Amino acid sequence: MIRTRLGKDGPFVSAIGLGTWGLGGRFTADARHDDLCVDAIKMGLDLGLTFIDTAEAYGAGHTERLVGRAVRGRHSDVCIATKVSPEHLRPEDVVRAAEGSLRRLDIDCIDLYQIHWPNSSVPIEATLGTMDRLVEQGKIRFIGLSNFGCRGLAKALSCAGHPVVALQTEYNLFDRTIENDLLPFCRKAGMGLIAYSPLDQGHSPTRGMGAETLVGIADKHGRTVAQVILNWLARVQGVVPIPKAGNPAHLRENAAALDFTLDEEDVAAVDLAFAPRPAAIPAWRVRADTKGLQNFVPGPNELARDIVAGEAIKPIRVVPAPDDPSRFDLVEGKLRYWAWVKAMGAERAVPALVRQPA
Ligand SMILES: NC(=O)c1ccc[n+]([C@@H]2O[C@H](COP(=O)([O-])OP(=O)(O)OC[C@H]3O[C@@H](n4cnc5c(N)ncnc54)[C@H](OP(=O)(O)O)[C@@H]3O)[C@@H](O)[C@H]2O)c1
Repeated sequence: MIRTRLGKDGPFVSAIGLGTWGLGGRFTADARHDDLCVDAIKMGLDLGLTFIDTAEAYGAGHTERLVGRAVRGRHSDVCIATKVSPEHLRPEDVVRAAEGSLRRLDIDCIDLYQIHWPNSSVPIEATLGTMDRLVEQGKIRFIGLSNFGCRGLAKALSCAGHPVVALQTEYNLFDRTIENDLLPFCRKAGMGLIAYSPLDQGHSPTRGMGAETLVGIADKHGRTVAQVILNWLARVQGVVPIPKAGNPAHLRENAAALDFTLDEEDVAAVDLAFAPRPAAIPAWRVRADTKGLQNFVPGPNELARDIVAGEAIKPIRVVPAPDDPSRFDLVEGKLRYWAWVKAMGAERAVPALVRQPA
């Protein structure tokens, strides 16, 4: 596996990493398949996928425990990235969260400690100041951010002590919006870009021009569609994709995804088949419920304030409504959607990515 540096100041990592969201549960612990999950992570490490991404939120902490079991005795060859949740960004909470992650991961130092989501109700300088102290105490090696927009990122960089080495954000063929702003921003700032959900959470296109293009390229090189996608992303300067895989065949494929070279024609064909721009859909045309919004930290009011202040939002995901051609049903981004409506009203077009029904 090729190794690459995360940004100009960051650690050297495998050019394809290993995501862990879902191993041991998504947002609640699921201990039914622990041994299989640990074996999958160990297999990923043996294959060279030595950059592991996890979070205190994954499996409500259980995923970190599984990662800890898998890396026991071999941490020196592995770069472990974990994340502090947005409800834990106050100084005393950051310290408590980091201690919790260290304990569950069973390591002395977190290689990359990332703020999972911004939370503008806590001053970023207080959070980053605490992370600086954690670096100085040897509890974390590098600092990273996740899901920040350009505005929040600029503010964070302006008050950072130790360098912020990477931004983790969604980047895949379905959602290429970061190419317009965040990617050039990170490059200019010398930060790496960790691409999460690089395989669009397993929703590979199955029909249309995108699917035909990917299958054509995969056949030409004797590879799989997932390998073409990962190869395409990893060739973008500064980008490290972190696919999650629990299935041994997937792990093998992902570890070999850079063992071939896409030619200019392949790159251009993928570029053409997958548009980098989201659609703009008047918010009233989107049907969404408000259930569970009170559980989000930050909540819609805080996020609405950020939008009013000029922060761009990650596009919401919609599907055409089956019973009404003028409407779309929301499938992802409930919080962002309601924050947008609060900030901008229902007439303004909300950035949206339209998924075609399977
Ligand atoms: N910072 C954030 O807010 C954030 C948000 C989302 C994700 N993440 C991080 O990014 C990681 C990856 O993103 P993700 O888990 O959302 O989605 P993803 O990596 O895009 O997709 C994972 C899905 O793809 C399948 N898969 C993996 N390799 C494959 C292959 N070679 N061929 C076909 N299917 C394959 C997996 O199946 P199997 O498991 O069955 O192998 C799984 O169903 C996460 O695990 C997490 O660490 C971070």
